[in-house]
Order: sequence, then C-alpha cells, then structure tokens
Amino acid sequence: MKKKTIQDLMKMKETGEKITWITAYDAPFAAFTEQAGIEMILVGDSLGMVDLGYDSTIPVTMDDCISHCKSVRRGAPNTFVVGDMPFGSYQISVEKAVENAVRFLKEGEVDAIKLEGGKSVTKQIRAIREAGILVCGHIGLTPQSSGVLGGHKAQGRTVESARAVIEDALAVQEAGASFLLVEAVPPEVTAFIAKKLTIPVLSIGAGKECDGQLTIFADTIGLFQAFTPKFVKKYCDLAPVIVDAYKQYAKEIKEGVFPGEEHVYHVIGDIAPFEELFKEFE
Ligand code: KIV
Repeated sequence: MKKKTIQDLMKMKETGEKITWITAYDAPFAAFTEQAGIEMILVGDSLGMVDLGYDSTIPVTMDDCISHCKSVRRGAPNTFVVGDMPFGSYQISVEKAVENAVRFLKEGEVDAIKLEGGKSVTKQIRAIREAGILVCGHIGLTPQSSGVLGGHKAQGRTVESARAVIEDALAVQEAGASFLLVEAVPPEVTAFIAKKLTIPVLSIGAGKECDGQLTIFADTIGLFQAFTPKFVKKYCDLAPVIVDAYKQYAKEIKEGVFPGEEHVYHVIGDIAPFEELFKEFE
C-alpha cells in the first residue's frame, strides 16, 4: 500500500471517495490497520482511556504520545499517521505548541498533528502550519474541554450552538488546517460544513454527509468496556472472546492439560546420559 499524501486526501474529497480513519496506539494494531487498507491512523490522546487505564484523556503526556506514535509507525510504515496533541501541549503558548508539534514529527514520525478547538486555537494552527506541519482541526465535542462543555455532550444541536460550530470550522480552515475532524455534531450541520469547506471534513459521531469517518478502534472491535457512545458500531466483540480464552488457558494449567506434548522441546538423542547428569546434582 502506498502512503496517502495530503494531496491524495484532497483529491478524495473532490472525487467523493470516502476517507477511512481509525485510531491505533501500538504496532500490532497499526499493522492490522495497514493490512486492512485503512488510509489513516490517529494516535489519539484517547490512548489515556483505551490503553493507559485513566478515566479521562487529561493525564496523557507528550512523552506518552511520542512513544505510542513511534510504535504505530513501526507497525504501519505506509499509512498516513496523525498524532494527537495532548492536553497542555498547545494551550500554554504558541511557541510551546510549535515545539511540541515539531516533536511529533521528529520523534513520533507522524505525518500530521491534530489539536482540539476552533477559534480559540487559530494562532497555534497558523504557527504550526507555518512551521511546515500539516494540521488537523477538531471541533464540536472536544473531550479535552468536556469540563467547560458540561460533559461529553453533542454540540451544534441548537441554532446558536450550530453557529458556533460553523464559525469554528471556518476559522480553523482560514488558519491553515489541512483537514478537519467534527465530533458529535448533527449530520445536517456536518453536511453544511463539509460542503462549505475546501479541506476534507471527517466525522466521528457527526453523520456520513462528509468526506470520511474516524472511529476509536477499541470501540469498533469491542475491546473498550467502560462505556459505548451512541455513534459506535461494533464490528465484532472481542472482549468476551479474550476473557473466555484466558479462562480456558488458566483452567488447562490447573488441570495439567497445558502445555501438551506438542508444546515442548525434548532432549536430543538418548535420555540415559541426561539421567546420569541429573544424578550428579542429586
Ligand atoms: O483521541 C482521540 O481518539 C480523539 C477522538 C475522540 C476523536 O481525539
């Protein structure tokens, strides 16, 4: 598979071919993504909840993200990878935002970065883009500011809220973002944004009338058990399969069934010299 470029993604918007995007946080799942031919990977700060066991994305650090981006790159060398800037890595100052975005490219080997926010982060988007880094905006429900939004709530459901989402979308494009993620916004509003913007607009929980879809891999394959958002479609349910396999493994150890004859390495040749050897140590 040839790695997609931003020009390819722009072309897909023009031709109406939907862009496929999913999260991954490590090499094995990045490899599955590439084998499936999915065009983009997000190393989301959702890794905090999906992989690191936190109950929000807030504690995730730059070092966590860089380490997981490296792992993903090793697993998917030919996939367009987006690194997600964690809370605190771009809000403090524009300089800090550029410095951290540079780290994502130099150390994490990603192709682009994503940051949450609309009008409030246009300075950061402009400066990162001017540093030669592709930026993905993220508007609507922005989990890092869920405290301010009053929880993980859909956005743009009233005319006033839709106005704010549309203004954010326009501001992000104007600041130089190369693509935009819209989260948990009504499909009618997303469709309007996707038509209005020239950059690819992707949805997570924001309907299909746009240029592509993102999902969190652990939701999609039934690995994340804490909760399931309304917009998730489970394509398989791996958690119970894994728990059942582990139970069987434990049972077979207890019962002396595992390991079997086929799982061991026998001595080479006759056993007699080995028995002599054992006697030396008795
Ligand atoms: O971190 C992530 O996976 C994200 C999605 C929630 C969009 O930003």
